[in-house]
Order: sequence, then structure tokens, then C-alpha cells
Amino acid sequence: MPALRNIGLLATCAAEGGQGEIHAVPEAALAWDDDGRVTWAGPQAKMPRRLAAWKSEDDLDAGGRLVVPGLVDCHTHLAFGGWRADEFVRRARGESYADIARAGGGILATVRATRETSEDELVERAAGFLERMLALGVTTVEAKSGYGLDLHQEIKLLRVYRRLAERVPQALVPTLLAAHAVPPEYAGDREGYVWLVCEEIVPAAAEEGLARFCDVFVEEGAFTPADARRVLEAGRKHGMAPRLHVDQLRDGGGAELAAELGAVSADHLEHVSPAGIRALAAASTVGVALPLASLYLGAPPAPARRMVRDGVAVAVATDFNPGSAPSYHLPLAMTLACVQGGLTPAEALKGATLIAARACGEEERAGSLEKGKAADFAILDAPDVETWLYHHRPNACVATVIGGRVTWRADA
Ligand code: NIG
Ligand code: FE
Repeated sequence: MPALRNIGLLATCAAEGGQGEIHAVPEAALAWDDDGRVTWAGPQAKMPRRLAAWKSEDDLDAGGRLVVPGLVDCHTHLAFGGWRADEFVRRARGESYADIARAGGGILATVRATRETSEDELVERAAGFLERMLALGVTTVEAKSGYGLDLHQEIKLLRVYRRLAERVPQALVPTLLAAHAVPPEYAGDREGYVWLVCEEIVPAAAEEGLARFCDVFVEEGAFTPADARRVLEAGRKHGMAPRLHVDQLRDGGGAELAAELGAVSADHLEHVSPAGIRALAAASTVGVALPLASLYLGAPPAPARRMVRDGVAVAVATDFNPGSAPSYHLPLAMTLACVQGGLTPAEALKGATLIAARACGEEERAGSLEKGKAADFAILDAPDVETWLYHHRPNACVATVIGGRVTWRADA
């Protein structure tokens, strides 16, 4: 059985305990079987003798560094055409995200570019992003459609993710977000588009088994709570679990809606109300903080500290997309969750591992280093989680391991 030895500090991020309980073990070791599943994790001095004596050519040495579970980016819009640097400049000059969207920019600008990009090209682009995410220690990635907005184009995006899943080392979790914006063909007929989503796009995606989750952007100018009910109901009927984009630009009662619908997660939450927070806690719906979107839009951050205090499990993700969050740097998002959202580094780590895995249905398989789970981990050039996240660098990751196999190393 291969093992990783000489770990300075191992944060297993096991589920027990609160958000800040990462179960850090000094001078630790980790072992896994040939299927890439963890068989043992703990203090190296207490390693069972048969494991300690075992020598494998796949053995690794952490060099006294910090080891954490592979990071889980539980909210991305990974496949899209083009970029929107022009809007970055317009916002800097004072236009708002909502104004730009109303003027035909925003999501619809990316829809135009995505429709013109072939499936092959989208695969290549997204594979490039995933390669750089791997170098940052990101081993599981949720990926949404939502820049196609018609039957053919939404299916195209989900097929991109299916092809990527066969090609990249990371685990991908696909989400259907056909209800991201009303496409130009349905301008003035939102109802008609919601019908298309429920009656054609959801069933077609389900037929090919292309999506595990169904998501809706609930916001003025996007979709209403009533639309979300219909779409998520259709998704559920076809085996897709519900998630929601809510309370991003204003408090629309979205957290309460997510809780009521039994959504696995409620994402964004920049403007969530105290009642919304209580509803999430009562429903055990994960709150997903997306600090890069708050940073880029100059918006207030989601009240992560308050959510944790009130009993909500808070995940941290990038929201990687060409508009509100043009960065896939999950460790930076974690640092921002501390700076803006008031999480401790330990809380941010559990939010980007175990709790993020919960938010995208991967908790049984990933998110913590415990017996039976995937041997997915990152070796980081830091003595502890606090030093890692406080000293932001382009990349502190020294090696990324998935299923016990080294998939990336800084010195290669
Ligand atoms: O999660 N809020 C809606 N959707 C994305 C932004 C998409 C875009 O601007 O292209 C988000 O922030
Ligand atoms: Fe998003």
C-alpha cells in the first residue's frame, strides 16, 4: 500500500465538529490502496506496523510540509466562449453589472460568443483552465452550463463536460443552468423560455445523463422564484438535485426559497437576510460564498461569519466565469473569504473541501482524508493553514495527487 510520509501537518477535514474543525495532525502520514482510496491517516508514529514496513515505488515524501484534501471548486461556469475585459473597464468607469446586462452585455454577450465556439474548441479551452486549477491543488470541479440558452447549445456545453471528464484527472460534476438568462429569441417571453427549459432542455439533458444538478439564477432581470420552482421541479423529476443562485444583487428572499425547495446549496448570498440565514440553517442547505464575484463587482461579501455563527455550513468557491469572476484561483477565493467574509483560514479550508464536496454531491467520495475516501490531496509549501492562506502567492502548491497518483508537481 503506497503512503505519503513526513507530513508536517495533515488537515484531514473530517466531517465531525464545526466549520473550523479541520482535524489537523502534526507529523503525520497517509496510506491508500491500489484503488486510490485512503486506508489510513494519522500521526506517523502511530502508523500500523504492517503499513509502516511496507515500501512501494509510489511512496511519497511531503518534506515536512502541509497536506490538505484536494480542493473542491463547487461552483464554476467553466465552459464559455470569449472574455469580457471591456466590461471590467466599463465597471471601473462606474457602470454597474446590472446596467451592462440590461444594455445587452453581461451573460448575453458570453452567450453570443459561446454559440459561435465549437464543442471541440470549448473542450480545449476548458481543459486548459482545468490544468491550471490542478496546479493549484483543485481536484474536484463543479461545472455549469448556462451560456447556450437553447436546446442544442445547452446540450453542447454539457457534452463538453462529459468529454472533459474522460480526459482530465479531476472529477467533474456537471450542472444544468439553462435558466441563467432569457435568451434573445425569447426577449419579452420569459414564460415561453421557462417552458422550453422544463419541457425540452431538462428532459434532453436527463436522457443523455448529462447533468447531476439543476440550477436557476433568481434575480431581477433573470428568473423569478415562481420560475425557479417550475425549473427545479422539472429537474427533480428528471433526477437532478436543486441548487440556486440567489440574493446576489439584492435580497430577493432567495435563501428562504432555496431552503423551502430543499436545495442542496444556495449560492452567492451577498444580500441574504437574517431570516434567510436562519432558513438555510434549519434546512441544512449549504451556503456557498463566492468572494471573487464580490471582489470583481465591488459588492459587499456574503456574510460568511454570521452564517457560520448561525449554524449554516459555508462553502467557498470561485464562481469562475468571464463576467463577475474571471479567475479560477480557489486559494485566492479562500483568502478573500477570510479578509472579506471573516472566516478563519481553517473555516475557509473546510469550506473549500468537505463542505464544498457536500454542496456538489461529492461528500461520500471526496473532501476529506478519511478511510474509504479518495486519496486526493495537495502538498503545500507552508507550515500550516494559517500561513498558507495569509501569505498569498501565485501558487503555494508543490504537488497535486488524485486517487493516489501524482497528477501535477511544481518541480516537473
Ligand atoms: O454566478 N450571477 C449569475 N451568473 C454568474 C455570472 C455570469 C456572468 O456574468 O457571465 C455568477 O456570478
Ligand atoms: Fe455563478
